Amino acid sequence: MEIHLKSPAEIDKMRAAGRLAAKVLEMIGEHVRPGVSTGELDRICHRHIVGEQGAIPAPLNYKGFPKSICTSVNHVVCHGIPSDGKILKSGDIINIDITVIKDGYHGDTSKMFLVGKAKEHARRLVRVTRECLFKGIEAARPGNRLGDIGHVIQQHGEANHYGIVREYCGHGIGRGFHEDPQVLHYGAPGTGVELRPGMTFTIEPMLNAGTRHTRLSSKDGWTVTTRDRRLSAQWEHTIAILDDGCEVLTLRDEER
Ligand code: MF3
Ligand code: CO
Ligand code: CO
Repeated sequence: MEIHLKSPAEIDKMRAAGRLAAKVLEMIGEHVRPGVSTGELDRICHRHIVGEQGAIPAPLNYKGFPKSICTSVNHVVCHGIPSDGKILKSGDIINIDITVIKDGYHGDTSKMFLVGKAKEHARRLVRVTRECLFKGIEAARPGNRLGDIGHVIQQHGEANHYGIVREYCGHGIGRGFHEDPQVLHYGAPGTGVELRPGMTFTIEPMLNAGTRHTRLSSKDGWTVTTRDRRLSAQWEHTIAILDDGCEVLTLRDEER
């Protein structure tokens, strides 16, 4: 394992990339409504990233991924492929995951959108999953360890009787999309890699309404779903460990 510690100049570039990724999520919100297809959302984001931002959508052609963003609806856990045939309807929940490359550095962030009128149980899953992300962020400071982040996420998710996905995790990020270390969303306090200033990584918990177990589509090789086909939610931020805590590089205006 090789963790790249970023210099202040590199963190500045990560900040710029993170801000652009956050802006894409801010831009797409008004387009997420009943009747729109995930393929259309992909095209709008692609145009914004390439045309307005002068950035690169990192997922496009990444290990063969065919689109510019990931759109994961309802029981899709992550890595959903946008398509013109997938039309959003009232009551759906959707994760939109944006990763951009700017000046050689990646910014990676996702959020959940409620389409039309979502049911209370769906809203609750979405809310608790976001709380897990922010509990993880609060545990991200020098001297703490990765296991401290995983632990608070696991505690909060399981206290709410949700299944915490283990097959996918957060990751170091920088010039690479997925760098070391792996950031697990479960774990024991005081274990794992010690956090140091200059580390940049994502935290991106996935919580399932039912079983934590997932299935990978053998048809497209990407789409991950819950085994029991119950709902799943995910939120993601890219953060940098600083001397006195951490900075969320992909924070949106609505979160300030
Ligand atoms: N953005 C995802 C993550 O959070 C990775 C997507 S890989 C892709 O790590 F190929 F599906 F785009
Ligand atoms: Co990520
Ligand atoms: Co992502």
